[in-house]
Formats: sequence, structure tokens, C-alpha cells
Amino acid sequence: MRLVEIEDLHVSFSQHDGLVQAVRGVSFGLDSGESLGIVGESGSGKSVTCAALLRLLREPPAKITAKTLSLSGHSVLGISNRAISTLRGRVAAMVFQDPMTSLDPVFTIGHQIAETILAHRKVTKREALAQAVELLRRVEIKNPGAVTNYYPHQLSGGMLQRAMIAMALSCEPDVLIADEPTTALDVTIQAQILQLIKDIQAETGMGLIMITHDLGVIAETVDRVVVMYGGKVMETGPVEAIFSAPLHPYTRALLNSVPGQTAGKQRLVEIAGSSPNPSHPPAGCPFHPRCPLAVAECRQTAPPLETKAAGRQAACIRVAAEMVAA
Ligand SMILES: Nc1ncnc2c1ncn2[C@@H]1O[C@H](COP(=O)(O)OP(=O)(O)O)[C@@H](O)[C@H]1O
Ligand SMILES: [Mg+2]
Repeated sequence: MRLVEIEDLHVSFSQHDGLVQAVRGVSFGLDSGESLGIVGESGSGKSVTCAALLRLLREPPAKITAKTLSLSGHSVLGISNRAISTLRGRVAAMVFQDPMTSLDPVFTIGHQIAETILAHRKVTKREALAQAVELLRRVEIKNPGAVTNYYPHQLSGGMLQRAMIAMALSCEPDVLIADEPTTALDVTIQAQILQLIKDIQAETGMGLIMITHDLGVIAETVDRVVVMYGGKVMETGPVEAIFSAPLHPYTRALLNSVPGQTAGKQRLVEIAGSSPNPSHPPAGCPFHPRCPLAVAECRQTAPPLETKAAGRQAACIRVAAEMVAA
């Protein structure tokens, strides 16, 4: 049984001036112990995909449809609020870029972690607080006992993100979903937090979904990658394969826009053109207006995600031709 199964997910938001088609037919899965990166430029539908999976979107304005949308075999479509809150935390827990979306400024860190534990487990308040201290120690916060009495504003950005990870781990989730967890942090702290997440994953064997616009983060932390663009999956495959021989022209463009090892000397090449307007997505392949290889058919028909090599899929009719040419 897969930890996460997403098949043909569509998410739209109705607004006064029309429909925002944020996710348009996304499919992917996650097996236990596996780590998956979801990468793509801002606005490609990464966060909405995972928020839909945990049913964190307000419906309406959001409308979610899918052939399959499940966590550890439980469908989250048409599920009660109570049932989804049990799955959240226990089966899948999420860490966000901005800790203050999940932390309440008026309660101490210890109180908030203990409350999460109490919501899911039959333990006393005292036991929950003791577990909160242990969790803070696990995320390498110094003086965890003292930190339980701190309020969020008393912690640095890196410490807050560690506290968020502690909270997410409090119910021993089968899968941790981290949405740009280090984007707001400086490079050194970012590396430490990614290492921490990797270590915890190795130790617990939990599944990991790492959402990021930063390919560098992906390279360091995951086994498999899903590349998203314009609310669709462009390419998926093992991380080494994606980096050494990207199939989709969008993945190539994304890799070219990352400064290399000699960062500073090398210029960052931006992908020419702008990403699609989700209120009026282009017909055909969403990348065709920016794609150097686009032909007439790309403008008319959205290519399906097809297996192009062992363990590798891409949604591009030009992949085979391009690989021969390369
Ligand atoms: N609540 C919402 N209402 C309307 N549009 C939204 C809402 N949330 C996200 N969107 C739109 O959906 C698209 C995908 O957003 P998102 O998943 O957050 O992108 P990403 O995480 O890849 O940067 C964006 O165009 C965004 O503006
Ligand atoms: Mg996002």
C-alpha cells in the first residue's frame, strides 16, 4: 500500500472574475520510506497539490476532484472533518515555509507541541510536555527544557523551523510534507535544517515530500523528483537521472537557470518568457510558449505523461526527437 496516491488531481478556485486552474491532472505516488521532491517555479501548483491532499483548502472557493486522492490507503475525498484531522498528524504532517502560519504567538512552544500530542494520544499533560522536551532535543535545539517556555517571537527563524519540525514529528507521521521549509533561512541554516530532515527520515523510515523551487535543495535531500509546471507534471524520475540527463525541455531550462558549482562567477540564466496564467492556461503543453522545441502539435494537444525510460516519465512529444538530436 502506498503512503500517498494521487491520480488525476484537479484543483480550481472560483473567483469573481473567473476560475483559477491551479492543478490540472496531477498524478504521482509515494512508497513508505521514500523521499520525493516536488520542484517547479513559483505558481506551478506545488503547494496547492499537497494542501489538497491534506484537505487544507477552504472548499469553496477551492474545488477538488481526483480519480484517487489517498493517504495510507484512506481516501481523503468526501471524508469527514474529524476523520481528516486524525489522518493529519498521524499519517501525514506538514511543515510550512512560514512557521507563523502554524504557530500561535500567544502560547509557548512547549504548550503548542504538547497540545498537538494531546490531540492525538491518550497521555497526561505532564507526559505530553515531557515528550515536547524530547522532540525539541531531537531537532537539536539547545536547552530544550528552557525553550518549551519560550514564545515564538523569542526564537530565531532557524529555531522556529526546528520547533515546527518537532511539532510535525510529534505524532510519528508516516509521511512528512515540507513546503519550502528552508526558503526563508540563510544558506548555512538551510543546510543544517535539510540535514536534520534527512537524518530524521533515515532514522524513522518515514516518507518525505519536499516541495521547493530550488533544485539545489532537491539534489541534497531526495531520491525521486516530480517536476511541475502550469499545474501539471512535466517529468518524474530518479534525482540523479533528472540532473544528469533531463528529458523535458522545461526541466532542462530549470537546470540551466541554476548557478553551477562556480556560483558567483556564473551568470544565472532566467527562463525566457513568463509562466502561464492559471486563469487562462494555454492550450496544449503549458510550456509551449517558452519552449525552444515546440511544434504545431504542442500548441494544440497537452501531451500525456508517458514512460520514456525505466523509472522515468515525461509529458513531451519532443523528448525522443530531442534525445536523438543531442
Ligand atoms: N486560495 C487561492 N485562491 C486563488 N488562487 C490560488 C489560491 N491558492 C493558490 N492559488 C493559485 O494557484 C496557483 C498555484 O499556486 P501554488 O500551488 O501556491 O504554487 P507553488 O506552490 O507551486 O508556488 C497560483 O497561480 C496561485 O496564485
Ligand atoms: Mg508554494
